[in-house]
Amino acid sequence: MSEKVIVELGDRSYEILIGSGIRELAKQSDLLVTDSNVDKYYGSWAETKANCKYIFPAGEENKSIQTVADICRAAAQNRLSRKSVMTALGGGVCGDMTGFAAAIYMRGIDFVQIPTTLLAMVDSSVGGKTAVDIPEGKNLIGAFHQPRRVLIDTDFLKTLPLKEIRCGLAEIIKTGVILDENLFAELEKAPETLTTAPDYARYSSIIRRCCELKAQVVAADEKEGGLRAILNYGHTFGHAFELLSNFTLSHGEGVALGMCAAGEYAAAEGIWSKQEALRQKKLIAALGLPTRLDTAYKTGDVIQAMLGDKKSASGKINLVLPTRIGHAEIFKDAAAGKIALAVESIYA
Ligand SMILES: NC(=O)c1ccc[n+]([C@@H]2O[C@H](COP(=O)([O-])OP(=O)(O)OC[C@H]3O[C@@H](n4cnc5c(N)ncnc54)[C@H](O)[C@@H]3O)[C@@H](O)[C@H]2O)c1
Ligand SMILES: [Zn+2]
Repeated sequence: MSEKVIVELGDRSYEILIGSGIRELAKQSDLLVTDSNVDKYYGSWAETKANCKYIFPAGEENKSIQTVADICRAAAQNRLSRKSVMTALGGGVCGDMTGFAAAIYMRGIDFVQIPTTLLAMVDSSVGGKTAVDIPEGKNLIGAFHQPRRVLIDTDFLKTLPLKEIRCGLAEIIKTGVILDENLFAELEKAPETLTTAPDYARYSSIIRRCCELKAQVVAADEKEGGLRAILNYGHTFGHAFELLSNFTLSHGEGVALGMCAAGEYAAAEGIWSKQEALRQKKLIAALGLPTRLDTAYKTGDVIQAMLGDKKSASGKINLVLPTRIGHAEIFKDAAAGKIALAVESIYA
């Protein structure tokens, strides 16, 4: 059984197909890009779906302009034309780089996303943001380039380590808090069947709902003029925690802690009920994500790190804050003192 979501963007509209075995719907690709881990599991299958394959070493540290240049060189060596199609088979790192390579190779060719991590299935493969990192910051070079199709095969989750499943779950909780109370409530049911004893069939409908919600946001605000920014809920705090931990915190852990801090901020401001902030914290913990910061970072350092985030405009920190489960708004120019209190309230 498969599920389908359409991202409505006029002549650039595309479909997202979700379900077990969906990968078999992939058409022959001219260049399939994957990482060294994914290749170990799925490389021989990938070869049946592509004329050639480019493998880069797995890891965020390889999400670079150099790897994108190498992908473009592989495209040229294999004589890809403007009519050719690239395919990303992998997590968000692979999707972001393949998408960027497809955006710039011959000024733009088509590409297809076949996400293999939960995070990529519910977030990065949909919406057309592509990017690479530079030493000065993450995702600082990139382009908007929508895929032609997204094929989400839940069977890929069977080999995904639990730590990576949890990274995806952090984004799913985020989506529930900001956009959909039903999704949030669904996650509260039997959390172990999403983590330690995974029921992969359950994931199909959860992923479909996340894609539907993200598709609506992207259709309304493709280039993040306004609404799309709510998807950064938990991320302004979260990126700061990731950075200050020297990336010993994963992105999912950073976002989980970021949502806790944002929840404390919103509750202290009186715009979100304390009960709902607690309900969020309970769900985060039930899914095996952290709710307390083990290291008490200096609040001044946290604020500096938040100001350094590329989303904070002109020395001001804007926060996405929930007003109820299922709804969030952007609050401009958050006060440093209040941010400090929110961070201190999640120290272990
Ligand atoms: N474009 C967007 O809108 C957007 C949104 C969110 C995140 N991102 C980006 O996504 C990236 C993070 O993505 P990610 O968490 O998928 O990381 P990732 O691509 O590095 O994948 C995580 C790890 O899982 C491995 N892996 C992937 N699929 C597997 C499978 N099925 N079985 C076993 N191992 C597998 C990978 O090799 C890697 O080691 C970041 O660079 C972030 O900036 C982009
Ligand atoms: Zn994220």
